[in-house]
Amino acid sequence: MKPLIVANWKCNPSTFAEAEKLFLAVSRGASKTGAEVVICPPFVFIPGLSAITKNPVKLGAQDAFFQEGAFTSQISINILKQFGCKYIIIGHSEKRALGETNKIINKKIKACLENNIIPVFCIGENRQERRLGKTSKILKSQLKEGLKGISPFNIGKLVIAYEPIWAIGTGNACDTDKAKEANIFIKKTLTDFYSGKNIQKVRIIYGGSTNPDNALSFIKDAGMDGLLPGGASLDAKKFVAILNKF
Ligand code: PGA
Repeated sequence: MKPLIVANWKCNPSTFAEAEKLFLAVSRGASKTGAEVVICPPFVFIPGLSAITKNPVKLGAQDAFFQEGAFTSQISINILKQFGCKYIIIGHSEKRALGETNKIINKKIKACLENNIIPVFCIGENRQERRLGKTSKILKSQLKEGLKGISPFNIGKLVIAYEPIWAIGTGNACDTDKAKEANIFIKKTLTDFYSGKNIQKVRIIYGGSTNPDNALSFIKDAGMDGLLPGGASLDAKKFVAILNKF
Protein backbone atom coordinates (compact mmCIF):
# COMPACT_ATOMS: atom_id res chain seq x y z
CA MET A 1 0.00 0.00 0.00
CA LYS A 2 1.14 3.57 -0.71
CA PRO A 3 2.40 5.50 2.33
CA LEU A 4 -0.23 7.94 3.56
CA ILE A 5 1.04 11.49 4.14
CA VAL A 6 -1.46 13.74 5.92
CA ALA A 7 -0.57 17.44 6.17
CA ASN A 8 -1.91 19.08 9.31
CA TRP A 9 -1.85 22.81 8.65
CA LYS A 10 -3.35 23.55 12.10
CA CYS A 11 -4.39 27.23 12.39
CA ASN A 12 -2.26 28.34 9.41
CA PRO A 13 -1.70 30.24 7.17
CA SER A 14 -3.47 33.47 8.06
CA THR A 15 -4.88 34.32 4.62
CA PHE A 16 -6.63 32.37 1.88
CA ALA A 17 -4.18 33.78 -0.68
CA GLU A 18 -1.30 32.12 1.17
CA ALA A 19 -3.27 28.90 1.57
CA GLU A 20 -3.97 28.79 -2.15
CA LYS A 21 -0.32 29.44 -3.01
CA LEU A 22 0.87 26.67 -0.69
CA PHE A 23 -1.79 24.25 -1.92
CA LEU A 24 -0.94 24.86 -5.58
CA ALA A 25 2.81 24.53 -4.97
CA VAL A 26 2.26 21.22 -3.16
CA SER A 27 -0.11 19.97 -5.88
CA ARG A 28 2.48 20.73 -8.56
CA GLY A 29 5.28 19.15 -6.56
CA ALA A 30 3.23 16.07 -5.74
CA SER A 31 2.74 14.99 -9.33
CA LYS A 32 5.43 12.29 -9.14
CA THR A 33 5.03 11.01 -5.61
CA GLY A 34 4.14 7.42 -4.90
CA ALA A 35 2.43 8.48 -1.66
CA GLU A 36 -1.24 9.10 -0.95
CA VAL A 37 -1.39 12.81 -0.08
CA VAL A 38 -4.01 14.50 2.09
CA ILE A 39 -4.03 18.17 3.07
CA CYS A 40 -6.03 19.26 6.12
CA PRO A 41 -6.40 23.07 6.06
CA PRO A 42 -8.44 25.23 8.44
CA PHE A 43 -12.20 24.74 7.84
CA VAL A 44 -12.87 28.05 6.10
CA PHE A 45 -10.24 27.41 3.43
CA ILE A 46 -11.73 24.05 2.47
CA PRO A 47 -14.38 25.24 -0.04
CA GLY A 48 -11.90 27.45 -1.92
CA LEU A 49 -9.24 24.74 -2.01
CA SER A 50 -11.72 22.07 -3.02
CA ALA A 51 -12.33 24.04 -6.22
CA ILE A 52 -8.65 23.69 -7.18
CA THR A 53 -7.97 20.18 -5.85
CA LYS A 54 -6.48 17.81 -8.34
CA ASN A 55 -4.84 14.40 -8.28
CA PRO A 56 -2.99 13.11 -6.36
CA VAL A 57 -3.79 15.58 -3.56
CA LYS A 58 -6.90 14.93 -1.47
CA LEU A 59 -8.59 17.19 1.02
CA GLY A 60 -9.19 16.44 4.67
CA ALA A 61 -10.24 18.33 7.80
CA GLN A 62 -8.73 18.77 11.24
CA ASP A 63 -11.88 17.86 13.16
CA ALA A 64 -15.64 17.39 12.73
CA PHE A 65 -18.60 17.27 15.05
CA PHE A 66 -20.55 14.02 15.38
CA GLN A 67 -24.03 15.50 14.86
CA GLU A 68 -25.91 18.10 12.89
CA GLY A 69 -28.39 20.68 14.11
CA ALA A 70 -28.41 23.08 17.05
CA PHE A 71 -24.69 22.97 17.85
CA THR A 72 -23.38 26.51 17.58
CA SER A 73 -19.90 26.78 16.04
CA GLN A 74 -19.58 23.10 15.11
CA ILE A 75 -18.92 21.71 11.63
CA SER A 76 -20.56 18.40 10.73
CA ILE A 77 -19.19 15.58 8.64
CA ASN A 78 -21.88 16.14 5.99
CA ILE A 79 -20.84 19.76 5.59
CA LEU A 80 -17.26 18.64 4.99
CA LYS A 81 -18.22 15.82 2.64
CA GLN A 82 -19.77 18.28 0.20
CA PHE A 83 -16.32 19.75 -0.36
CA GLY A 84 -14.68 16.42 -1.01
CA CYS A 85 -13.06 15.80 2.38
CA LYS A 86 -12.02 12.15 2.56
CA TYR A 87 -10.11 12.09 5.84
CA ILE A 88 -10.73 13.80 9.18
CA ILE A 89 -8.18 14.15 11.97
CA ILE A 90 -9.83 13.19 15.26
CA GLY A 91 -8.47 13.56 18.79
CA HIS A 92 -5.34 15.56 18.04
CA SER A 93 -3.45 16.28 21.27
CA GLU A 94 -3.94 20.02 20.71
CA LYS A 95 -7.75 19.40 20.76
CA ARG A 96 -7.43 17.10 23.76
CA ALA A 97 -5.52 19.89 25.55
CA LEU A 98 -8.57 22.12 25.01
CA GLY A 99 -10.83 19.61 26.73
CA GLU A 100 -11.73 17.01 24.12
CA THR A 101 -12.35 13.72 25.93
CA ASN A 102 -11.97 10.11 24.83
CA LYS A 103 -15.77 9.88 24.93
CA ILE A 104 -16.23 12.71 22.44
CA ILE A 105 -13.42 11.32 20.30
CA ASN A 106 -15.19 7.95 20.23
CA LYS A 107 -18.41 9.60 19.00
CA LYS A 108 -16.53 11.47 16.29
CA ILE A 109 -14.72 8.33 15.09
CA LYS A 110 -18.03 6.46 14.91
CA ALA A 111 -19.68 9.32 13.01
CA CYS A 112 -16.82 9.36 10.48
CA LEU A 113 -17.03 5.62 9.89
CA GLU A 114 -20.82 5.69 9.56
CA ASN A 115 -20.46 8.42 6.92
CA ASN A 116 -17.69 6.76 4.94
CA ILE A 117 -15.02 9.22 6.00
CA ILE A 118 -11.68 7.91 7.18
CA PRO A 119 -10.83 9.08 10.69
CA VAL A 120 -7.18 9.75 11.48
CA PHE A 121 -7.37 8.90 15.15
CA CYS A 122 -4.53 10.53 17.11
CA ILE A 123 -3.07 8.98 20.22
CA GLY A 124 0.12 9.60 22.17
CA GLU A 125 1.71 10.10 25.55
CA ASN A 126 3.15 13.28 27.03
CA ARG A 127 6.73 13.72 28.25
CA GLN A 128 5.98 12.90 31.86
CA GLU A 129 3.99 9.80 30.99
CA ARG A 130 6.90 8.55 28.90
CA ARG A 131 9.37 9.34 31.68
CA LEU A 132 7.28 7.40 34.19
CA GLY A 133 7.07 4.38 31.88
CA LYS A 134 3.36 4.85 31.28
CA THR A 135 3.40 5.03 27.47
CA SER A 136 1.78 1.64 26.87
CA LYS A 137 -0.85 2.25 29.52
CA ILE A 138 -1.82 5.60 27.98
CA LEU A 139 -1.91 4.26 24.41
CA LYS A 140 -4.00 1.30 25.51
CA SER A 141 -6.56 3.41 27.34
CA GLN A 142 -6.83 5.91 24.46
CA LEU A 143 -7.37 3.02 22.05
CA LYS A 144 -9.84 1.25 24.33
CA GLU A 145 -12.01 4.32 24.90
CA GLY A 146 -11.66 5.78 21.44
CA LEU A 147 -12.65 2.53 19.73
CA LYS A 148 -15.48 1.54 22.08
CA GLY A 149 -18.37 0.04 20.11
CA ILE A 150 -16.63 0.17 16.72
CA SER A 151 -17.43 -2.97 14.80
CA PRO A 152 -14.84 -5.45 13.52
CA PHE A 153 -16.18 -4.60 10.06
CA ASN A 154 -15.46 -0.87 10.35
CA ILE A 155 -12.16 -1.09 12.20
CA GLY A 156 -10.19 -1.83 9.01
CA LYS A 157 -11.02 1.61 7.59
CA LEU A 158 -9.29 3.39 10.42
CA VAL A 159 -6.01 5.30 10.40
CA ILE A 160 -4.28 5.59 13.77
CA ALA A 161 -1.70 8.35 14.17
CA TYR A 162 0.88 7.75 16.87
CA GLU A 163 1.86 11.26 17.92
CA PRO A 164 4.00 11.44 21.07
CA ILE A 165 3.09 14.87 22.46
CA TRP A 166 6.68 15.58 23.49
CA ALA A 167 7.80 15.28 19.85
CA ILE A 168 5.15 17.59 18.35
CA GLY A 169 6.46 20.95 17.15
CA THR A 170 9.76 20.53 19.02
CA GLY A 171 12.11 19.68 16.17
CA ASN A 172 12.98 16.54 18.14
CA ALA A 173 11.19 13.63 16.54
CA CYS A 174 10.75 10.32 18.31
CA ASP A 175 13.58 7.80 17.71
CA THR A 176 12.59 5.26 15.11
CA ASP A 177 13.13 2.52 17.73
CA LYS A 178 10.57 4.07 20.03
CA ALA A 179 8.18 4.65 17.13
CA LYS A 180 8.60 1.01 16.12
CA GLU A 181 7.85 -0.12 19.69
CA ALA A 182 4.69 2.00 19.73
CA ASN A 183 3.68 0.66 16.32
CA ILE A 184 4.06 -2.95 17.51
CA PHE A 185 2.21 -2.16 20.73
CA ILE A 186 -0.71 -0.56 18.88
CA LYS A 187 -0.98 -3.57 16.55
CA LYS A 188 -0.87 -5.98 19.49
CA THR A 189 -3.52 -4.00 21.36
CA LEU A 190 -5.79 -4.09 18.32
CA THR A 191 -5.45 -7.86 18.17
CA ASP A 192 -6.39 -8.02 21.87
CA PHE A 193 -9.57 -6.05 21.13
CA TYR A 194 -10.54 -7.54 17.77
CA SER A 195 -10.35 -10.80 15.97
CA GLY A 196 -10.53 -11.19 12.21
CA LYS A 197 -8.52 -10.02 9.27
CA ASN A 198 -9.74 -6.43 9.24
CA ILE A 199 -7.28 -5.24 11.87
CA GLN A 200 -4.45 -5.92 9.43
CA LYS A 201 -5.95 -3.20 7.24
CA VAL A 202 -5.64 -0.52 9.93
CA ARG A 203 -2.97 1.95 8.88
CA ILE A 204 -0.68 3.27 11.61
CA ILE A 205 1.14 6.51 10.85
CA TYR A 206 3.59 8.68 12.80
CA GLY A 207 3.48 12.39 13.58
CA GLY A 208 5.79 14.68 15.57
CA SER A 209 8.57 16.78 14.02
CA THR A 210 8.73 14.81 10.79
CA ASN A 211 10.89 16.35 8.05
CA PRO A 212 12.53 15.35 4.76
CA ASP A 213 15.52 13.87 6.62
CA ASN A 214 13.63 11.53 8.93
CA ALA A 215 10.51 10.78 6.83
CA LEU A 216 11.77 7.63 5.16
CA SER A 217 13.09 6.01 8.33
CA PHE A 218 9.67 6.08 9.98
CA ILE A 219 8.35 4.02 7.09
CA LYS A 220 11.35 1.75 6.51
CA ASP A 221 12.70 1.29 10.03
CA ALA A 222 9.68 1.88 12.25
CA GLY A 223 7.26 0.12 9.90
CA MET A 224 4.81 3.02 9.83
CA ASP A 225 2.23 3.24 7.03
CA GLY A 226 2.58 6.98 6.70
CA LEU A 227 3.23 10.34 8.36
CA LEU A 228 1.34 13.29 9.81
CA PRO A 229 3.56 16.34 9.31
CA GLY A 230 2.57 19.65 10.91
CA GLY A 231 5.25 22.35 10.68
CA ALA A 232 6.93 20.78 7.63
CA SER A 233 3.63 20.80 5.73
CA LEU A 234 3.53 24.62 5.81
CA ASP A 235 6.68 24.88 3.74
CA ALA A 236 5.96 23.70 0.18
CA LYS A 237 9.62 22.81 -0.48
CA LYS A 238 9.95 20.74 2.68
CA PHE A 239 6.60 19.03 2.24
CA VAL A 240 7.25 18.18 -1.40
CA ALA A 241 10.69 16.87 -0.40
CA ILE A 242 8.91 14.52 2.05
CA LEU A 243 6.48 13.41 -0.67
CA ASN A 244 9.30 12.79 -3.09
CA LYS A 245 10.92 10.30 -0.74
CA PHE A 246 8.16 7.91 -1.78
P1 PGA B 1 4.76 18.76 13.82
O1 PGA B 1 3.19 18.52 14.10
O2 PGA B 1 5.13 18.00 12.59
O3 PGA B 1 4.88 20.24 13.66
O4 PGA B 1 5.48 18.24 15.02
C1 PGA B 1 2.61 17.26 13.95
C2 PGA B 1 1.19 17.28 14.45
O5 PGA B 1 0.89 17.95 15.44
O6 PGA B 1 0.30 16.64 13.86
